[in-house]
Amino acid sequence: MITRREMLLASGGIVIAGGTLTSSRATAEEAKQLVYHSTSPNNAEPELADLVQSWITPTKHFYVRSHAPNPTIDPDAFELKVEGMVNRPAKLSLKNLERFKNHSTTATLTCAGNRRSEYNAEGKVGGVQWKSGAIGNATWQGISLADVLKEAEVTPDAKHVWFEGLDEIEKGGGIIPFGGSIPIAKAMIDSGPAAPLLANGMNGAPLTADHGFPLRTLVPGYIGARSVKWLGRIVVSDRPSPNHYVATAYKLVKNTDPIEWAESGPIYRYPINAAICTPKADSQLAVGEIDLTGYVLPTGRPGTTVKKVLISADHGKRWTEATMVGKDREFCWQLWSAKVKVTAATKRLMVRALDSSGGFMPYRVPWNAKGYLQNSWYKMPVQVN
Ligand code: MTE
Repeated sequence: MITRREMLLASGGIVIAGGTLTSSRATAEEAKQLVYHSTSPNNAEPELADLVQSWITPTKHFYVRSHAPNPTIDPDAFELKVEGMVNRPAKLSLKNLERFKNHSTTATLTCAGNRRSEYNAEGKVGGVQWKSGAIGNATWQGISLADVLKEAEVTPDAKHVWFEGLDEIEKGGGIIPFGGSIPIAKAMIDSGPAAPLLANGMNGAPLTADHGFPLRTLVPGYIGARSVKWLGRIVVSDRPSPNHYVATAYKLVKNTDPIEWAESGPIYRYPINAAICTPKADSQLAVGEIDLTGYVLPTGRPGTTVKKVLISADHGKRWTEATMVGKDREFCWQLWSAKVKVTAATKRLMVRALDSSGGFMPYRVPWNAKGYLQNSWYKMPVQVN
């Protein structure tokens, strides 16, 4: 947890980096270097070449996915409500939250809509037209959600924990908050890489407004939608949240009719995924050996790490194994590099990956109406001459 004092210092020109005070105000306030799909709300992703510069994604290169404009929150008046199936409901100020044990977790956040635009080849999908940059790996500072829930005394019949943001989203003629929901068993993990955090820091600096200042959840292994920004309320319940973003959106449906919505469950874990980051799609390449870089994310299942990344320049006849770069950790991506030979017959480069829990990228993913979880072989067109 970044303390209130440190937050104030940050706004006055001093930030925390790697646990020590530094005299640069850059980290928290550095301008975003992203390609914007929209502003107000902000939806933006980095250039892929920027994304593979480091295993920890600098905040300036970290994608932003928001359904409404950033709310303005006064940190001094801020209170986190903890309600529902608890014996001791609470309203906690940021100062109150500083009592809990500090945790720092490195985890990849990825939007369920990452690579959505690839579905359009088969049938138009609405929503932000993400390429493959809606992913980033950061170190998150905060406290464990479980510690706060334990203090609130969750009742034995509780099954789910809901999160509610302080943003105001126009939906169906009204205003709703963004909501998330996770099973109680996940919520009660109190330490280690799988533990959900109530985070107020990202890469050693206070959260920026785009990433949920002053407080958000960070749920390792789950799609980004469960990591609720501008967190204002936690509700413990015997069922998943009825919020639109749990009960309807973020489900895999072919048709958007009420029956399919009701029949499908919310997406929790993300599947394995990988992409080429350099060279760029449609690059002009000379016949011969070329250098490739990219990322790979193992399935968000506890204990799962990357097994292999394979690249083909001849439509899958031969596969070259990539070299992993960076740390090999559950809930975190890895960067990779490879050398492959391209010929005049090479029309596209393809990538697939395997992980330690049997996760693999399929050749094709069935189309779904909202364009989620696109993790088919990454197929990148190139021109060789
Ligand atoms: N939380 C709130 N309150 N409002 C939102 O629109 N978007 C979600 C999630 N949390 C969202 C939210 C989605 S879909 C994603 S992918 C992540 O935030 C993105 O987090 P980031 O913008 O910090 O990268």
